Amino acid sequence: MKIIKMKKRILTGERPTGPLHLGHYVGSLENRIKLQDQYDCFFIIADYQVLTDHLTDTKQIEKNIKEIILDYLSVGIDPEKCTIFIQSQIPAIAELTMYFSMMTSLAEVERNPTVKTEIKTAREEGRISEITYGFVGYPISQAADILFVRAHLVPVGKDQLPHIELTQEIARKFNRLFGEVFPIPEALIGEVPLLPGLDGRKMSKSLGNAIYLSDSPEVVVNKVKRAITDPARIHPTDKGHPEICNVFQYHKAFNKEEVEEIETKCKNAGIGCVACKKRLIEVLNAFLDPIREKRKFYEGRDDLIREILSTGNERAKKEGEETLRLVKEAMHFDYKGILD
Ligand code: TRP
Repeated sequence: MKIIKMKKRILTGERPTGPLHLGHYVGSLENRIKLQDQYDCFFIIADYQVLTDHLTDTKQIEKNIKEIILDYLSVGIDPEKCTIFIQSQIPAIAELTMYFSMMTSLAEVERNPTVKTEIKTAREEGRISEITYGFVGYPISQAADILFVRAHLVPVGKDQLPHIELTQEIARKFNRLFGEVFPIPEALIGEVPLLPGLDGRKMSKSLGNAIYLSDSPEVVVNKVKRAITDPARIHPTDKGHPEICNVFQYHKAFNKEEVEEIETKCKNAGIGCVACKKRLIEVLNAFLDPIREKRKFYEGRDDLIREILSTGNERAKKEGEETLRLVKEAMHFDYKGILD
């Protein structure tokens, strides 16, 4: 007998709220490039989820989706090896969200720490009236994102862990109530420490402290020049503290060959911040150059992007239909006795 060994399935992705930056690269894209060789990978562009807090600028979403696809392709995510798709194009995700929302208690929704923090921030910022029913429930929709392909592994950052736990709860509850349909997905948490923004805060689009994969060489020069280094180091003759310096974190992530030398030199005032930044600019631009080149190639190829999305959406849709068939059968929602 021929034994076909199925590859394990991975699902992860992001919201199309803007272009991807170096933090995304270090924290997840780099890992995906490796994972796509070993697993059956699905990458979701979660456009419904954008509506949870960007309800007024929906016009931007299409452009952002395109940028993300270009980011994916330019770093080496290969649509021949993986499935890239748009959340709202997959009817099964919306349908599963409906079933799953009936299986999730209000208490479970309310105790999600990520959601709680976001509500607290909204209250502090006077935006509490913008918190919608859909926002509070987005982890349920995220569970549908994961379970519609019956994924085994979900590579995510730590902040997403509560959502994966909820997904496991939903999968377990479904299997217990209606029969085994879903594998219990596990989170795959990256080992890489988060890359800080150029000002030392979390790297984020809204804080304006990110270097994007699509930034030009000149933009990288200007951004790194403005980056905050060790605040205690005023003169180049002062000894530096690389462990608290943002620029050093970038050397750690992108300049592995020289990082030890730079650390020693910084600690002994053997290299000043200006020279250290200059070196980082060279290293980052050398890293980004091939990515820019690939991007340029794909930028003029709208037909290719169309094809990638149409193939990806089709495959995801098919998987979703099969999952939904199993779900409806298990729940007796297929109404075989009264429907054709
Ligand atoms: N919530 C995730 C984020 O903001 C994006 C996301 C949506 C996601 N659906 C997902 C991540 C499913 C992993 C699996 O980054």
